[in-house]
Amino acid sequence: VRIYVPCDSAALAVGADAVAAAIVREAARRGLDIDLVRNGTRGLLWLEPLVEVATPAGRAGFGPVDAADVGALFDAGFIDGANTHPLALGPVERIPYLARQQRVTFARIGITDPLSLDDYRAHGGFAGLENALALPAADIVAAVTASGLRGRGGAAFPTGVKWNTVLQAPGADKYVVCNADEGDSGTFADRIVMESDPYMLIEGMAIAALAVGAARGYLYVRSEYPHAIAQLQAAIGQARAAGYLGADVLGSGRTVELEVRKGAGAYICGEETALLESLEGKRGIVRSKPPLPALAGLFGQPTAINNVLSFAAVPLILAKGAGYYRDYGMGRSRGTLPVQLAGNVRRGGLIELAFGATLREILYDYGGGSASGRPIKAVQVGGPLGAYLPESQWDTPLDYEAFADRWAVLGHGGIVVHDDTADMGRLARHAMAFCAAESCGKCTPCRIGATRGVETIDKILDPDAPAPQRERQVTLLRDLCDTMLYGSLCAMGGMTPYPVLSALNHFPQDFSQADMPRP
Ligand code: NAI
Ligand code: SF4
Repeated sequence: VRIYVPCDSAALAVGADAVAAAIVREAARRGLDIDLVRNGTRGLLWLEPLVEVATPAGRAGFGPVDAADVGALFDAGFIDGANTHPLALGPVERIPYLARQQRVTFARIGITDPLSLDDYRAHGGFAGLENALALPAADIVAAVTASGLRGRGGAAFPTGVKWNTVLQAPGADKYVVCNADEGDSGTFADRIVMESDPYMLIEGMAIAALAVGAARGYLYVRSEYPHAIAQLQAAIGQARAAGYLGADVLGSGRTVELEVRKGAGAYICGEETALLESLEGKRGIVRSKPPLPALAGLFGQPTAINNVLSFAAVPLILAKGAGYYRDYGMGRSRGTLPVQLAGNVRRGGLIELAFGATLREILYDYGGGSASGRPIKAVQVGGPLGAYLPESQWDTPLDYEAFADRWAVLGHGGIVVHDDTADMGRLARHAMAFCAAESCGKCTPCRIGATRGVETIDKILDPDAPAPQRERQVTLLRDLCDTMLYGSLCAMGGMTPYPVLSALNHFPQDFSQADMPRP
């Protein structure tokens, strides 16, 4: 009998290793022959550790399993897929949270053993790379352009256009760089890809290298992701040994070498030029643009720098064709978005959906409402620099342009839920404090502005401040936000006004001391 226990760090954090050990022990004690596979995560995080048992009718799920449950699970016949134990979930693929998704990029994730090349190939892996090796570079770029793929790191710049710039740029040594510094609050899709399907990312980067004419690539991974780093290093070693990387990729004569570099924990190192500085061994300070990294990036050479999810979407585009990917989505937002649902929500997890689904569907149909059972008050979409959306905006479809129309951002697809006990004044203060702490210090609107922003919000929130003084400070705060929005060198200072002003505009009552909840 084949039993699956996830090895991803969200499952490990809630005891997956102990569950796996208990299953092996219990099976041995009962003289049962089992084959334990450490699969990736399905992304149904509230069910972790989610144990699956292969049955003729598909995989039966049990979760969340504690090591102490294992004996009773065996007693209930779970290895035969029996559905009688209270933790039984039935066929995993039919759990509505999973069944209703459009798993395109994440199609294999949670199903396979992340480090098994056989598993990867058996589920369509490396077909995209094989196709790419037979194409001229310009045709690979054309396929990615035609797919409509836009940068999934948050800025949504067309990936094919970026790659074309690198391909056309003169340069002796071009590079591909993967931004895996996933720093946004409530985001974990990059981590899941790296831990649960590392070959997909490797394949995507190898295709990118062929497309832009690079022979070397770097994956810049945040140090807080030790499991992802270990998984990538193991996968790169095995891919190289099997000929998918190295001096002669699949006998093509093309060289693609990949290397993992560990970040040191600065949020700003997720900004592409600060990341490149850090990769070069320098302090992570933002560079002025132009020149774009596509023209002068790593070590001054043309560089295709993309987010994990952008590279991860590429193998499928090359394997199944641009049209397959482009057919999902709405408007100019083509394909799917791996949404990450977190915060005060009953069912947090990874939800891959075609663009066009609404926030309300995600919050209630998938998330099941708040974890506290209280009404949801605000959701922050797109990380700590994203806007807070009030209920009147939850019918907004997931679409880059629809969000921009509401002065909000989809960003990297992170959604953090707050119930009605959230104090939006304090959350606005937190945004400024975060910017002050994480600013690289290069430009004045951000370096000084964020600190002044904290002071100004403190004066607004001062319960002893007379109303006219508070109003003056609100005017000052709006002025300061204007300066940061239009005067900052990068998105750190430039986007901090999104959470601040959206909180102020949609929840003005939380900025008036009369109604404010006090800790
Ligand atoms: P940007 O709009 O300046 O650039 C987007 C990308 O397109 C960059 O790689 C840029 O070099 C490239 N580009 C722009 N014009 C080009 C051209 N003509 N040819 C070739 N390439 C071109 O945005 P930026 O500052 O890189 O990113 C800001 C975004 O980052 C925000 O929208 C935010 O959502 C997101 N973000 C994501 C985080 C995460 O953890 N994933 C954390 C913080 C912010
Ligand atoms: Fe640095 Fe902030 Fe200016 Fe960005 S906005 S360059 S993080 S000081």
